Amino acid sequence: MTGIDRSRVEALVKRERDRYHADHPGSRRVHEQAGHLFGRVPMTWMSKWVGGFPLAYATAHGNRVTDVDGHEYVDFALGDTGAMAGHSPRATVAAVQRRIGVDGGITTMLPTEDAEWVGAELTRRFGLPRWSFTLSATDANRWAVRLARLVTGKPKLLVFSYCYHGSVDETFVVIGPDGLPASRPGNVAPAVDPTTTTRVAEWNDLAAVERELAHGDVAAILAEPALTNIGIVLPEPGFLDGLRELATRYGTLLMIDETHTFSAGPGGMTARDGLRPDVFVIGKAIGGGIPSGAYGLTEEVADRVHRITAAGSADIVDVGGVGGTLAGNALSLAAMRATLGEVLTDGAFAHMISLAGAYTEDVRRVLDETGVPWSITQLGARAEYRFTRPAPRSGGESAAAADDLLDEYMHLFTLNRGILMTPFHNMALMCPDTSPADISYHTETFTQAVTDLLA
Ligand SMILES: Cc1ncc(COP(=O)(O)O)c(C=O)c1O
Repeated sequence: MTGIDRSRVEALVKRERDRYHADHPGSRRVHEQAGHLFGRVPMTWMSKWVGGFPLAYATAHGNRVTDVDGHEYVDFALGDTGAMAGHSPRATVAAVQRRIGVDGGITTMLPTEDAEWVGAELTRRFGLPRWSFTLSATDANRWAVRLARLVTGKPKLLVFSYCYHGSVDETFVVIGPDGLPASRPGNVAPAVDPTTTTRVAEWNDLAAVERELAHGDVAAILAEPALTNIGIVLPEPGFLDGLRELATRYGTLLMIDETHTFSAGPGGMTARDGLRPDVFVIGKAIGGGIPSGAYGLTEEVADRVHRITAAGSADIVDVGGVGGTLAGNALSLAAMRATLGEVLTDGAFAHMISLAGAYTEDVRRVLDETGVPWSITQLGARAEYRFTRPAPRSGGESAAAADDLLDEYMHLFTLNRGILMTPFHNMALMCPDTSPADISYHTETFTQAVTDLLA
């Protein structure tokens, strides 16, 4: 394996940062003038972009973004999956324009016919028969967690260390350096210590899952079917089957969040790998960029909720804590119908997955040829490299491989050469507009980044 000299990385980061500053006066101006914004950005996480200030973009179409300085980028970040259908996909734009223009009405508190179409399509793709809509995956998780506690009568969640399911209070728990559950570093002022609401296990560790479930107080295992928010950490053979089996044995619901792993195929990993969740959550991509999310329930879970609410001990139609005023609005549903019906089709997934395969192979070849000790993992239409080899088996292992300096270098290097990677780590996502030429351009750029590191 080839070692990487830290002082060389530092010098390269400086070189790339200077170039970024010189090339982006317009983005810098937008940032400096944003005195009315908390943190000078519309959302605080936008400060995660490298270079000291984020790009300010002017236009985005398909997999291309143009910034205010006139540079064009091949976009592999795709809004961290919110734009997996490409930016402003034509069918989604047409449906949205029809809804707000010709038809009229964005939010009325009334159903439209699109809702049942989308529900039926989600059933066709993911199998669960009863759906409810939200404006984000966070909300879908939050509300579905309440329903899980309601039907099981149990108070806790089980999550995996270094998972991410949006800003759901109960999920910010990790296994600390002493092997004990702890509030995740950086967790902002939790109302209660999340170790009191949540049990935690390492990914791919069924014995730990069973140990936690044996306490008898877990309403649901909330899991992505592969970790995607601490790099991609795939399940080992038998792990997901094991979760299903343990959940059933201990009277716990299996809640699968496919917000990111939807990249695995038209029906996510649930359809691809024959998973059998009791509760299902999705968001981001399904609205083609218009805020959208959904949770699905099995017939049995839906019936149990209805029985309890009919008895009057919980309220899901007013202020019981499940729902939001604009959730299920006509605009989101029109966008979901068009995006699922016409954009994120089986054919689009085949194209995207094939390109992610080429991307992965190319990066792996460069790593093998140069001996750089990193690994790359593909999950359908997304792929991600991590600064360690072999690929991590758990969230804890993957977190330990984080390297902020290398991250900054790779992000700046690619950004300066017209490629956007997701700002949080090194995820690359394909959309229907991504082309083989875009993959070749990334391979060329990645090769140069690694060559410069080793020079
Ligand atoms: C697996 C998963 N679930 C839920 C969410 C939350 O999505 P949102 O921020 O759109 O609410 C995310 C966000 O990254 C996610 O990765």
